[in-house]
Amino acid sequence: MLHAVNRIASESPRPPAPGMETPLSPRMLWALNRFRMETENRKSRRYGGKGPHHWYALLFMMRTLEVLLKLTRQYERGVRNAWEIAVREIEVPLPRLPAAFDGFTVLHLSDLHLDGMPGLEETILERVGAQEFDLCVLTGDYRTELHGPIRPTMDRLQPLVSGLRCRHGVLGVLGNHDDCHMVAPMEAMGIRMLVNESVRLARGEDVLQVVGTDDVHYYFTDQAVHALEAARDVFTLALVHSPEAFDIAADLGVDLYLCGQTHAGQVCLPGGRAIIKHLSRGRRFYRGTWKHRNMVGVTNAGVGTSGVPVRFNTRGEILILTLRRAITPTRS
Ligand SMILES: [Fe+2]
Repeated sequence: MLHAVNRIASESPRPPAPGMETPLSPRMLWALNRFRMETENRKSRRYGGKGPHHWYALLFMMRTLEVLLKLTRQYERGVRNAWEIAVREIEVPLPRLPAAFDGFTVLHLSDLHLDGMPGLEETILERVGAQEFDLCVLTGDYRTELHGPIRPTMDRLQPLVSGLRCRHGVLGVLGNHDDCHMVAPMEAMGIRMLVNESVRLARGEDVLQVVGTDDVHYYFTDQAVHALEAARDVFTLALVHSPEAFDIAADLGVDLYLCGQTHAGQVCLPGGRAIIKHLSRGRRFYRGTWKHRNMVGVTNAGVGTSGVPVRFNTRGEILILTLRRAITPTRS
């Protein structure tokens, strides 16, 4: 039965035709499919799957790095670096931005990995202060572990979300470290989770659409693509955990693509050159602001850390974006 449901979820994610309704909602189909992938350690990518041993190989590398850092007395320095979190404010010029959203502010937090750096939620609130934003978006990886209890992470996320001040609320998507069971408690905290779904914010006649997909690094399904198809006819901000869906989103007309996943390399060579990017494609978009066709992308360096709680030659960041209506130059 479960296998049959999974096949339906991955192969037939479009809404059923009238008269062909399934008794399971799209959310339920998604949850069954993702639960199976999580429990079977079956990673799905658009261009091929990924073996269950990948993460364990990475963990081995991380443990080796930790031992080396401790032996060379660099570990404490790396931990201090990880806590030097930048608050980075950027203006994003967008030609199609509706006039009513000119100056719209977005607090973008990604890769919190709250269980990896205890107290991080308090640090974020201290850094953001009493600032009010139009919207807050969370682009996944709330915990460090890939499996196990979610409660410790949810208990740390709750006070963070409660302390944020956002006129249009908090929107979130899942990352590859997250568990499908997080959706319900996160929504109970007041976060509107977008699981291959979209919402529209209105200011007068103007509309800003936000589409959020499930993680595409480990848990890609065609449902993510179908969700992004909503971008065709309205200004759209996409929330995707990883930059790896950059070409799909740009082709479908997404205007602004916010993501994380890479931690900007986390442990980098001097100059910020990443040793490992954790991307199978779109590797040049592993940090900062970028452009692909008409779409602007921003890859958040993440607030937290994964594997070992250290950073070298890169900083964690809290991003504050101000959307600006760009004037397209006219030819004389
Ligand atoms: Fe992450």
